[in-house]
Amino acid sequence: MAGGPSTPALVIAAAESGALGFLAGGYKAPDDMAAEIARVRSSTPGAFGVNLFVPGHATRQPAALSAYVATLEKEAGDLGTAVGAPRWDDDAYDAKLELLLADPPPVVSFTFGCPDSAAVMALQAAGTVVAITVTTPDEAARAQRAGADCLCLQGCEAGAHRGSFTNDTGPAQDHPLASLLAGVRASCDLPLIAAGGLGSPQDVAAVLAAGATQAQLGTAFLRCTESGAHPLYKAALADPRFSSTAITRAFSGRRARSLVNDFLRDHEGAPAAYPEVNNATRPLRAAAQAAGDAQRMSLYAGEGFRAAEQCSAAEIIERLASGVRP
Ligand SMILES: Cc1cc2nc3c(=O)[nH]c(=O)nc-3n(C[C@H](O)[C@H](O)[C@H](O)COP(=O)(O)O)c2cc1C
Repeated sequence: MAGGPSTPALVIAAAESGALGFLAGGYKAPDDMAAEIARVRSSTPGAFGVNLFVPGHATRQPAALSAYVATLEKEAGDLGTAVGAPRWDDDAYDAKLELLLADPPPVVSFTFGCPDSAAVMALQAAGTVVAITVTTPDEAARAQRAGADCLCLQGCEAGAHRGSFTNDTGPAQDHPLASLLAGVRASCDLPLIAAGGLGSPQDVAAVLAAGATQAQLGTAFLRCTESGAHPLYKAALADPRFSSTAITRAFSGRRARSLVNDFLRDHEGAPAAYPEVNNATRPLRAAAQAAGDAQRMSLYAGEGFRAAEQCSAAEIIERLASGVRP
């Protein structure tokens, strides 16, 4: 979980509890990612993964991006800051990939796109298991062709960014986890990791019974002791003022599920421009956080956000596994 929630402490706690935690490679300088990997390795012999964002392309809606950025200026001023430069970047993807090849972690997962098969094969040759996040049966077929060892199926209930291969708005792009799992399971023999809206031991048992090999949860860990989510974000997840989630491009220019707050409501028409919008809104989000204003922060969360508990990651894992462990 890029952006703060995933910490080495969370990944170490997961490994020590028999689960598989992922360090976030996204939004992080390659050296910082390497330092986090070193910290996990020095603290636990357990397995862990590292997640990378596959870069897309610069926006195809430059006029809409400029117009959107202009609408943010007053709000930024009110927060005592300025809108960030709406720059495209590739999140240092090649440098991170190189680093992972040089010091291969047990698992690498990709999101926001399909890595090329050369990258997949190079990681596999280095001894790394490769997972690719998919959100539709078509993406699952492409990930299979790219040579993935396993697929992470992300249903539309999931918190934060949709892991879709493109940032377009298309018909039938938001598959609930149950139907995505049923559809992909029918045509794919790879191990499947099911993600999206899971919160209870029953949810976990249900996806395993439906053919998933593993269940993946994000939102359930946002409030845990080891989560690096900001205290305001943790509080919002349990605050009755925030009672629902919605998919929005308001914060980043890429579709993401977030708690519904004023910023999301005020910016319904944000363009498909990632990470340009993310870079533009960063100073606003930081200033809102500094001012204690959760209504203007990105509060990414899945549909099961009310199940997120304030306790240790080990306790959450123990509870979630209680329905499936012998
Ligand atoms: C705050 C937050 C940040 C996330 N960041 C990433 C990320 O960097 N990379 C990724 O592949 N998935 C990311 N995810 C998605 C999770 O990997 C997973 O698909 C999702 O959390 C599952 O749905 P759930 O949140 O309902 O449990 C994030 C999820 C959340 C809630």
